[in-house]
This record gives sequence, structure tokens and C-alpha cells, in this order.
Amino acid sequence: MVGESTVQKGLQDVVALESRITFIDGKQGRLIYRGYDIRDLAAQSTFEEVAYLLWYGRLPTAAQLTELRTTLGGLRTLPPEAAAIVDRMPKNANPMDVLRTAVSALAMFEPGETKTGPSSIGGAQRLTAALPTILGQFHRRRAGLPKLRARPELSHAAYLLYALLDTEPSPLDVNAIDVALILHADHELNASTFAARVTASTLSDLYSAVTSAIGTLKGPLHGGANERVMELLDEIKTPDRAESVVHARLAKHERIMGFGHRVYRVEDPRATILREWSRKIGEERKDIHYYDLLRAVELVVMKEKGLYPNVDLYSGSIYTLLGVPHDLFTPIFAASRVSGWTAHVLEEYDDLRLIRPTSAYVGPTDQRYVPIDERS
Ligand code: CMC
Repeated sequence: MVGESTVQKGLQDVVALESRITFIDGKQGRLIYRGYDIRDLAAQSTFEEVAYLLWYGRLPTAAQLTELRTTLGGLRTLPPEAAAIVDRMPKNANPMDVLRTAVSALAMFEPGETKTGPSSIGGAQRLTAALPTILGQFHRRRAGLPKLRARPELSHAAYLLYALLDTEPSPLDVNAIDVALILHADHELNASTFAARVTASTLSDLYSAVTSAIGTLKGPLHGGANERVMELLDEIKTPDRAESVVHARLAKHERIMGFGHRVYRVEDPRATILREWSRKIGEERKDIHYYDLLRAVELVVMKEKGLYPNVDLYSGSIYTLLGVPHDLFTPIFAASRVSGWTAHVLEEYDDLRLIRPTSAYVGPTDQRYVPIDERS
């Protein structure tokens, strides 16, 4: 009956499917990939190990890890036709638009068997390897940097930094990015992963699913929040101004980016780890002003709203200190989350059921059709 159903706005607390990939304990502040605590993975593993874990459900042996690294290194070069499309994108384009369009285009030049069903693990690895290349190729052209080389000897984290900055990154910088990539790799049924699974659930292909996910990640309530955090810090300038600037924003009913979460009721464990990395990179660069500003903002937001930081609060300060332009923050998120999106798409293909919820209709039902020349 019209208007009688109960609506869970934003699908909050709705359990839409079973998954073996990621568990979030929102009350204890724990994040677990395939049974492993994110704190252990961030401290001891690498992005490639985590990607293997997400895709295959177990940590790799040394030989399996070497094989995956070789595979990813060999998949970095785009087919010439796809590279030409990236080269034609306007230099002032939003990098997330570039990524979404390039992934969509790449599908047309890839073998069909890598796109759906269990063998789309090939597509998962191709996309994971290719995203830094797409970003690097686009950014280097707009920034006037030398052409990108595939550098198969570099880890995923080192290649991402090299692709974006054209530098030989220090081990500490690579470690910082590697940790950020590990922390962003998956997060249960977040909006972009859900979008990917909805697309895959129609038996559409992996590239379409990842294209849907990139478009969904772009929004400031999801992946786009860390860029906005840096805008806030630029406005605050000194820690003593944190209170007045945050108050002014709250008075206008604006959200403070980098705070709050749909699932965590305590601090997001990813924020805890990234806070330490923000301090570490700041100390190494002898510039901890972002860290100090963020600590000041944290105190005000906790006092005023009782909200805890999320993953987006500290990541932007790390990327900025490493020299990454702000509009590449969300694309870096995508370059990590693609591993999680594709793991979920593989899981969806394995246990497929069309995702098609229903809505409570609240519009009219008995309108009389008025011919067009009688309408006012
Ligand atoms: N600043 C100010 N108020 C907030 C914030 C915030 N960051 N987050 C939540 N609130 C308030 C909100 O205004 C609402 O208040 P009221 O009930 O008085 O209207 C109340 O808290 C509940 O908010 P909600 O939007 O119903 O809660 P939600 O579960 O839908 O929100 C969220 C989750 C992440 C969208 C939200 O906390 C938010 O907008 N945060 C800022 C954006 C952000 O940092 N996003 C990154 C999320 S983590 C990365 C990721 O997983 O993508």
C-alpha cells in the first residue's frame, strides 16, 4: 500500500548481503580485512600483500607476492589507444573525471575474459596496476613533467609517488603512502563499493562496476572529504583560530569534513594510524603546523559536536607534505580502493543475486490525464 512501508533512509543499518572480505566493529573501533586487524596490516604488510589478501582471501607466500608484484609491474602500461584518450583530456579536467572516463575507455581495449566471472581477477589486477599510470600520465602532462615510464621494479606505492611527482621517493615517503593505501583498500559496504556491487549484480562487467564506483567515490561525503579538510586548514591558518572558524561553519550548519561516520561510534582506527603518520612526516619535514592545526580542530569538534575523526582528517596533511596536489587526494583513494572494489565484484559474481531494493511510493496515484493543449 502506498506510504505504508518503513523506510531506512540512506539504507542505514540495512544488512544487504553477506561478505567474507571486511568487518567493521563500529563500537570497538576495529577494522578487519579477511580476519586480519588493520593495525597489524598497516604496521607489517604492504599494499600488494593486502590486495592479494582481499582478492584471494589469504596472505600470500613470498613466491606468490613476488609473482603478484611482477604481474602488476607488467600491467602498468596502457594500450596505446587508451593512452591516447587520456592525452586528449583537457588539462583543467577534474582528475576523478579523468579516472572514471579512462577506466570506462580501457574496457574497450581489454580481453573479454578479464571482465566478468571468476577470471575477472585479471581485470582486477589490470585496473589496480593501471590507475596510477592514468593519473600520472594526466598529471604530468598538465604539470609539464617528463613522460611517465612503467618502472616495473617499483612497488605500487613507490610507483604511485613516482608517477605523480616524478621523484625517486624516500623509503619513509613510500612507507607513508603504502600505509595510506593499505588503510583505504577496503571498507565493507561503503557507498562506492555498494555501487560497484549493484552494477556487478546485473552481470555487468568489472570495468563498468569500477566506473560506477569511481563516480560514487568522488562525492565530498565519501572520498572527496580530505581535499575539503585542507581548505579548512588553509582558512584556519593558526591553531588559535580553529575555534572561531569551526564555530562559524557550524553556525551556518556546515559539516566539518573529516569527522563523523555512518558506522564508527568511536574513533576510526584509520584516523588513529594516519594521525601518527601526519606527525611523523611533519617532524621529518620540520613542519608540524598541519598536525597542530588538526589537533586543534579535533578538540573543538569533539567539544561542540561530540564527533570523532575519520580516515579523511589526516590523510590530506600527509599527501600535502609529500608534495601531492589537493585534487589528486581522492584519486589516490581510488588507486587503493580499486583493490577492494574488485574483490567485492569477484565476491558478487561468486554469489550473484540482482540487487534491486524497493521504494515507498509517496507520490499521487489518481491524476487525471490532461491533453497537452488543455494544460495551463
Ligand atoms: N560535521 C558536522 N555535523 C555532522 C558531521 C560533521 N562532519 N557529521 C555528522 N554531523 C551531524 C549531522 O549534521 C547530523 O546532525 P542533526 O541530527 O542535528 O541533523 C548528525 O550529525 C547525524 O548526521 P548524518 O548525516 O545523519 O549521519 P551519517 O551517518 O549519514 O553521516 C557522514 C556520515 C560521513 C556522511 C557524516 O558524518 C559527514 O558528512 N561527515 C563529513 C564528511 C566526511 O568526512 N566524509 C568522509 C567519511 S569517511 C571516508 C569514507 O568512508 O568515505
